[in-house]
Amino acid sequence: MTNPILELRDVSAEYGPFRALFGVSLTIEPGASLALLGANGAGKTTVARVASGLVSASSGSVFVDGVDMTTKRTYEFAQAGLAHAPEGRSVFATFTVEENLVLSFRRALGRRGVPAAVEEAYALFPRLGERRRQIAGTLSGGEQRMLSLARVLVEKPRLLIADELSLGLAPIVVDEVYETLSSIRGTGTALLIVEQHVHHALELCDEVALLDHGTISWRGPSAEATEAVVNHLFDSGDR
Ligand SMILES: Nc1ncnc2c1ncn2[C@@H]1O[C@H](COP(=O)(O)OP(=O)(O)OP(=O)(O)O)[C@@H](O)[C@H]1O
Ligand SMILES: [Mg+2]
Repeated sequence: MTNPILELRDVSAEYGPFRALFGVSLTIEPGASLALLGANGAGKTTVARVASGLVSASSGSVFVDGVDMTTKRTYEFAQAGLAHAPEGRSVFATFTVEENLVLSFRRALGRRGVPAAVEEAYALFPRLGERRRQIAGTLSGGEQRMLSLARVLVEKPRLLIADELSLGLAPIVVDEVYETLSSIRGTGTALLIVEQHVHHALELCDEVALLDHGTISWRGPSAEATEAVVNHLFDSGDR
């Protein structure tokens, strides 16, 4: 029997005196895909941060491949094959597109792995190839998001944790990003997707978990989620 790639067991998380998660349990099997949905402030980003080691659980445990990672550092989560594509833009604004790619691939893959990885990034997002000499800070919001996504995808994570990838993107770019995620999924990368675009998330992911005020209120197959999603978002919009 294989272990889940990620397991949160009864995890709570706090920001100072504020408690954001209350006993969250969830598992993601290797190659599986889970959409995490919920209202603003429900705790989705906090789950993504705990899952990638950016925020420590105040109680409960986090396992990666069956190994207890609860007290491990962020880089150890990355070494275990977990990649976190955070909310917002995360590029080096004063460097070119290509310099951004080279810097992150050199760190992750070593110098010799860089050229092939850069070409792969351009194959995933041709627009980045067209703009390889452009200063990253002058890219459009969507192009910057592609750049930060390319940086994590080429490293072939075993689990990609993506938080609001489509935020602020034009629908056509969102479609492009989701096509890329779908092909990444096809290569066996597991996904934890936090997304406001519910229908994209449902289409991409096999399973859905709903988060409500820091607790999981529903979990099930995407095909059964629509009614639960609507009810949930309707009930908890007043926070
Ligand atoms: N650094 C922080 N310090 C204090 N409170 C925080 C911090 N980060 C998040 N919170 C609080 O924790 C709760 C959960 O926040 P979180 O960002 O996980 O929600 P979310 O579901 O991702 O919301 P959104 O859909 O708006 O992105 C919120 O009430 C938020 O105000
Ligand atoms: Mg969030």
